[in-house]
Amino acid sequence: MLILAIESSCDDTAAAVLEPDNHLRSSVISSQNEIHARFGGIVPELASRRHIEMIRPVVEEALAQAGVQLADIDLIAATQGPGLVGSLLVGFTFAKALALVLDRPCVGVDHMAGHLLSCLLEADKPIFPYTALIVSGGNTSIYTVEDPVTYTRLGRTRDDAAGEAFDKVAKLLGLGYPGGPVISQLAVDGDPAAIAFPRAWLGEDSLDFSFSGLKTSVANHVNTQRRTDQPLALADICASFQEAVVTVLVKKTLTAAARTGHTRIVLGGGVAANPRLRAVMQQHCNDKGLQLFMPSPIFCTDNAAMIAVAGYHQFLRGDRVDPDTDAYSRSPLN
Ligand code: KG4
Repeated sequence: MLILAIESSCDDTAAAVLEPDNHLRSSVISSQNEIHARFGGIVPELASRRHIEMIRPVVEEALAQAGVQLADIDLIAATQGPGLVGSLLVGFTFAKALALVLDRPCVGVDHMAGHLLSCLLEADKPIFPYTALIVSGGNTSIYTVEDPVTYTRLGRTRDDAAGEAFDKVAKLLGLGYPGGPVISQLAVDGDPAAIAFPRAWLGEDSLDFSFSGLKTSVANHVNTQRRTDQPLALADICASFQEAVVTVLVKKTLTAAARTGHTRIVLGGGVAANPRLRAVMQQHCNDKGLQLFMPSPIFCTDNAAMIAVAGYHQFLRGDRVDPDTDAYSRSPLN
């Protein structure tokens, strides 16, 4: 069986071809970073227009790299939500139209399910059940994952997602978009204890997150430095901000694992590419005898390979979409 998957929920146009034993034949991602960089964030209208331009060449490239024709495809999977509706509609409608023309089944996949299963693309796969931290530009949530189609959310952000905080702090510091990669790069030369930025624990038992106070605290620090004509210690600010985010993400994920009793922890989402988060999480998992599974950075950020994996499992469950099924902006999983 061959699955063609399409992902267009935000600012990346992506397509992948997968064989169900998770042999990935191709994964193509067309990034829009250069279009949105000068605005310091994603401009939805520009994102949809770019998806319209790129969807066909990206799908054709994924088929070519996989060495297959459209007629060889048995199942089509596409991200149905959550995300920017204008962006989602491009990939989802393209997928439904292809399925109709080819007379193949089509499955609508929740983007979060893709992140929750992205580790299955790696050679060293977790077995179920596991506790997962999904941390990206749009989400910061902890889940229990019982099997490939059964997930329960244990906690989520009450305001900004962690990736959003990285992006907003980068904008504040004039570092461009997306903020995560550049902040983590600058943080390498900084002191994570230089500035005591706050950690929002939201109470002993809470598995929820909050990053808006941290973002405001960084803004206050930067404004004070500028007002008093003091130089900005960029590396120290980046390292201290990153440490505040990482400390909370790690602690709450470990608390969740202790509560579920799972011995396996899985990461997913764009911020899971952060080297400091990966290192600190690995250290704590080692100390506690937990197994940690992290997708390669290319499968942390948005991609269609993870949509193919989730789509395949939903197909086995019997999920199908009709040509008139709509995309959705908010996830029932979140
Ligand atoms: O998963 P993703 O590609 O898209 C969403 O669904 O949001 O994640 C993008 C987010 C952006 O906020 C970006 O700044 C962040 O992931 N990100 C990082 C890193 N690489 C990407 N955040 C921290 N450190 C990184 N190295």
